[in-house]
Amino acid sequence: MNVKKAIIPAAGLGTRFLPATKSMPKEMLPIIDTPVFQYVVEEAIESGIEDIIIITGRGKRAIEDYFDDSPELEMHLAKKHNTDLLKLVRDISSLVDIHYIRQKEPLGLGDAILRAEKHIGNEPFAVLLGDDIIVNDKPCTAQLIENFDKYGRSTIAVEEVPYEKLSSYGIIKGKLFDDSLYVLEDIVEKPAPEDAPSKIGAIGRYVFTPEIFDCIKAAGKGVGNEVQLTDGIRLLNESQTIYAYEFKGTRYDTGDKLGYVKAIVDFALRNDFLRDDVLEYLKLVTASETSLE
Ligand code: G1P
Repeated sequence: MNVKKAIIPAAGLGTRFLPATKSMPKEMLPIIDTPVFQYVVEEAIESGIEDIIIITGRGKRAIEDYFDDSPELEMHLAKKHNTDLLKLVRDISSLVDIHYIRQKEPLGLGDAILRAEKHIGNEPFAVLLGDDIIVNDKPCTAQLIENFDKYGRSTIAVEEVPYEKLSSYGIIKGKLFDDSLYVLEDIVEKPAPEDAPSKIGAIGRYVFTPEIFDCIKAAGKGVGNEVQLTDGIRLLNESQTIYAYEFKGTRYDTGDKLGYVKAIVDFALRNDFLRDDVLEYLKLVTASETSLE
């Protein structure tokens, strides 16, 4: 069966970006002029996803408004004959079929995914976490879907993470099976670095068989007294093979301040209108920093 549906959880409180996220969803933080979330939605669409379920929570209305029509703005742009901007704004609201489900309480990532169970039904589906932007010609989710199409089994995207960051990820133990592909042996949610089974972490892109739902339910609450997706994956692995795939591409963890700054600098350098000026500015800053040392 083809992977045509995706869940994008966006119910997290975004405490790492306070005070900006006090009145604005962290998913709407812009990389120059485009919210992080748009890149995530575009990745899903470019991977062949036709139906997106966004799990929202309190204070996330701006996400729904963003992907909705904006009649006043469109009328204003039409009056001013600003056709380029008008097209840009209209294109966003016609990107894809999006449904919203509200997670009433922040009970964890596993619980957020469970909210979409009825909508997904008995189909394989993708999960994209809203903090990561991954840049590659073939989108990361498409790479996972390709592996799913080959083996018919759940596949999670992984990459090596720095030692001091191991406790921020689900860390896998795997057996290398093919170039960049592991058969999952175990996965542990946010271990202390000295207890981690490897340095390979799950980065927030997954494709699952629908049996994951029952496994998340059966696993119950885990680390932080939250329903953890990782514990569901662990249970699913007892009855079905799961693959972990070292994806191709550059990942920006925009939920992390340094990752966010790196994304802005790199996207500016990839932008034809900004590149030269930004480079010049960076050279100036670097030169004055060096002269201060
Ligand atoms: C979640 C998952 C974790 C995964 C991480 C990737 O944690 O629970 O297993 O490695 O996303 O970003 P969070 O970042 O929501 O704390």
